[in-house]
Amino acid sequence: MRRLAPTVDVEVLLTSEDRRQALLHDVATGLTRTPKDLPPKWFYDERGSELFAEITRLPEYYLTRRERAILAERVHEIAADTRADTLVELGSGTSEKTRFLLDGLGAAGVLRRFVALDVSEATLRESAARIAGEYPGVMVTAIVGDFDRHLGAIPPGGRRLIAFLGSSIGNFGPVERSRFLATAQATLEEGDALLVGVDLVKEPERLVAAYDDRSGVTAEFNRNVLRVVNRELGADFRPECFDHVARWDAAGEWVELALRSRVDQRVRIPGAGLTVEFARGEELRTEISAKFRPEGVRAELAAAGFEPARFWTDAQDDFALALAVPA
Ligand code: AVJ
Repeated sequence: MRRLAPTVDVEVLLTSEDRRQALLHDVATGLTRTPKDLPPKWFYDERGSELFAEITRLPEYYLTRRERAILAERVHEIAADTRADTLVELGSGTSEKTRFLLDGLGAAGVLRRFVALDVSEATLRESAARIAGEYPGVMVTAIVGDFDRHLGAIPPGGRRLIAFLGSSIGNFGPVERSRFLATAQATLEEGDALLVGVDLVKEPERLVAAYDDRSGVTAEFNRNVLRVVNRELGADFRPECFDHVARWDAAGEWVELALRSRVDQRVRIPGAGLTVEFARGEELRTEISAKFRPEGVRAELAAAGFEPARFWTDAQDDFALALAVPA
């Protein structure tokens, strides 16, 4: 017997043309200032998403495993505390950890709807369709959008649990982070809750190792941003002429990723009408991944108008999940 293809509501708030314009803007501003930088969202084309999936399985990259352990242990408490009928996942990617939440909320008997919001349309469509197939009673909505711009597009109504997992929040700097939390707070209504995954401050050696793995996967992931700019804007970056750099910034309490030019070089970016010079040793910053302290998370949530209801860590105190409700 043939099964009907499960239906997914797809809402596109970010077209490929919007994305190109945004990349153009980030390249034109980021590569003409000192020090040079590019935002981490440009890592994630198809190859970048695959490389990230590979990162989550690396022995050094404990984050995903630790978060999964907390979710597995606490999902029934999350369901009991929130009684959410709608799960919203921000930056859902392949929605792998989502299944814990879907199963937990489903077992509590209240789940009706899943909403996934991600910038990557292809990945989103694929994972949303897969989830719709696996959870036949759940209405699935996919929103192609940017979680720092499109929170307002999350459908209203019901009791919504907004999940922002994987320590993605660590990619924001402190100012953007407080802005994001304030916007999220303003989006939430009575009965809604926010679940945030955060990586915790620990020995710098382990933090740096998680971003500088022995097998070089993170280095390839980092260089992938150059391949994206080459493809999208016709640039002639030679990724092999850049070294992967991962370092702990003790003052900011974040891991910083950069690409360091191995030589003096000139890069043409015709799509942006730019020619950019790199001196030997010059760095292009590609990502910060902030690490958190429990008291800091509580303070930031409170400052944004949340009441931090719960804070769970794994057995090793490597990672944490915070559940918060609007105060
Ligand atoms: C997806 C943002 C959580 O910061 O740990 C992994 C991305 N970068 N290795 C992180 C990432 C390099 C990751 N986040």
